Amino acid sequence: MKILVTGGAGFIGSNFIHYWLENHPEDEIINFDLLTYAGHLESLQSIKDNPHYSFVQGDITDAKAVDEVVSKVEAIIHFAAESHVDRSILDPLIFTKTNIMGTQVLLEAAKKYGIKKFHHVSTDEVFGALPLDSDTKFNETTPYNPHSPYAASKASSDHIVRAYFDTFNVPITITNCSNNFGPYQDPEKFMPRLITNLLIGQKVKIYGDGKYVRDWLHVIDHCRAIDLVFLKAAPGSTYCVGGMTKDVNT
Ligand SMILES: NC(=O)c1ccc[n+]([C@@H]2O[C@H](COP(=O)([O-])OP(=O)(O)OC[C@H]3O[C@@H](n4cnc5c(N)ncnc54)[C@H](O)[C@@H]3O)[C@@H](O)[C@H]2O)c1
Repeated sequence: MKILVTGGAGFIGSNFIHYWLENHPEDEIINFDLLTYAGHLESLQSIKDNPHYSFVQGDITDAKAVDEVVSKVEAIIHFAAESHVDRSILDPLIFTKTNIMGTQVLLEAAKKYGIKKFHHVSTDEVFGALPLDSDTKFNETTPYNPHSPYAASKASSDHIVRAYFDTFNVPITITNCSNNFGPYQDPEKFMPRLITNLLIGQKVKIYGDGKYVRDWLHVIDHCRAIDLVFLKAAPGSTYCVGGMTKDVNT
């Protein structure tokens, strides 16, 4: 299968490309990434000469560039996004443009070329926050309740992705995953920042009063979940993905 991976130079996307080429060596991947501050081709250095991998620098909001690259593939796995909550408070408009409009531009091209599978990588932040003493956990029927501009833009993109299934029959799937950690993560994110702060003897910054449930998942476990959903799930379906092993309410 020839797959377009958007945002493949980012944290999860680069891990995913390594994972996919190791586990599905017969497939071909085109990595389409704008290389914003969050995109690092160094993360893909070891596979840059792999004949099953190629890189195209481009913007998912650029309909012409997207049309051209989507015309060459059978499936899309969509990671590209503005992903940092703190930045979405400082500069929210770029989140609306990239995460909502960019996703819709991709869906338009997927519709036009009859793409066989469109997987949208989303976040559990669309559901809001759980208090520390909560005995529930997010699931596929949890109502959307986003708070940050980042979460609201991802929530909007989820709705648009579903609308393209309901209205145009684009064969989409969605995963809403909790926080990831692992290799190639940008030092501005929580876990690497925590480690670098500790290394230089500084205090660790906790968000709010710290009294919220935080679920963490290793990035390769996230990639394995996307693999399963992408290949096996029914078109139109959504799955929550998380690291919590204790079954709290079901
Ligand atoms: N990091 C997490 O813990 C987490 C958890 C759940 C879901 N997600 C979702 O997974 C996806 C990837 O997250 P990440 O942490 O790897 O993000 P990231 O910020 O590390 O990477 C995003 C990538 O997208 C690229 N990009 C940004 N704007 C673009 C544009 N307009 N056109 C093309 N490429 C563009 C960047 O250059 C970068 O390579 C996002 O959709 C995010 O919402 C992340």
